[in-house]
Amino acid sequence: MTIKDFFTSLNKDLDKNQARDFAWLLVNRTKKEPIDWGVATITTKEQTAIKRELKRLKQGEPLGYVLGFVPFVNCEIKVTPDVLIPRSETEQLCDMIIQEYEGVPTTILDLCTGSGCIAVSLAKNLDARVTATDISEQAIKIATQNALANFAQVDFYNCDLFGDKLGKFDLIVSNPPYLDKKEMENLPHSVKDFEPSLALYGGEDGLDFYRRLVKEAPQHLNNGGIMYLEVGDFQADKVVEILSKEFDCEIVADYYGFDRFVIARSRK
Ligand SMILES: C[S@@+](CC[C@H](N)C(=O)[O-])C[C@H]1O[C@@H](n2cnc3c(N)ncnc32)[C@H](O)[C@@H]1O
Repeated sequence: MTIKDFFTSLNKDLDKNQARDFAWLLVNRTKKEPIDWGVATITTKEQTAIKRELKRLKQGEPLGYVLGFVPFVNCEIKVTPDVLIPRSETEQLCDMIIQEYEGVPTTILDLCTGSGCIAVSLAKNLDARVTATDISEQAIKIATQNALANFAQVDFYNCDLFGDKLGKFDLIVSNPPYLDKKEMENLPHSVKDFEPSLALYGGEDGLDFYRRLVKEAPQHLNNGGIMYLEVGDFQADKVVEILSKEFDCEIVADYYGFDRFVIARSRK
């Protein structure tokens, strides 16, 4: 059977997003470009394996978990249900830092590293000494594997935010958990039932981590240090209000025009 016939036979009862994910699954599992689908064939063994994975997609499992990896900047990042699937906003956050710090030797701390996507991509693309922490032991295991697989040098620590062993850095970056209680209750099935809640919940109003950062970050930043933070929809102004006690802040919009990043410069 050609890949095209296989795709068409199973595509009928999929919605638009499922069909797109199914196409990606096929591209990745058969390693054949879509242009060849009319002639390239798929073995019975491949069909059985892909049908099993398609069933998982139909049950709402995100494509990243079904494939087991996502592309991120110029890295391939392994993901399991122990870690959040890296989002495109976070990729934009890394692109901003890479553009700004290219060729500048820097020390970087990635807090709440999860899969390690931020730490790994920055270590791979910058002349930087990168350290990263996460409270989840499982996440640190995955992040360590991702650093090795991408030939990136990162020092990982399994601890609560800064822990008690870390020194000072030029730059702190973080995509912390920032969903509030109401958002947690209204999560779509694909997030609620598959992604780790430890990676999502930021306290009653979603801002707990930013309150901790304004207290704990100053002692971990070198003079003139800077923080690059991802924030939730409609949180940027509140985060700036919290951080303004210690930092001069700038809000940056994502590619869709939503205020999703706060850059906070130390006044010291
Ligand atoms: C939103 S995810 C971000 C993961 C990754 N940096 C990314 O951008 O895809 C937040 C991460 O924070 C971690 N986390 C939650 N509470 C923490 C804490 N108190 N200290 C350190 N990490 C924490 C979770 O385990 C999760 O991996």
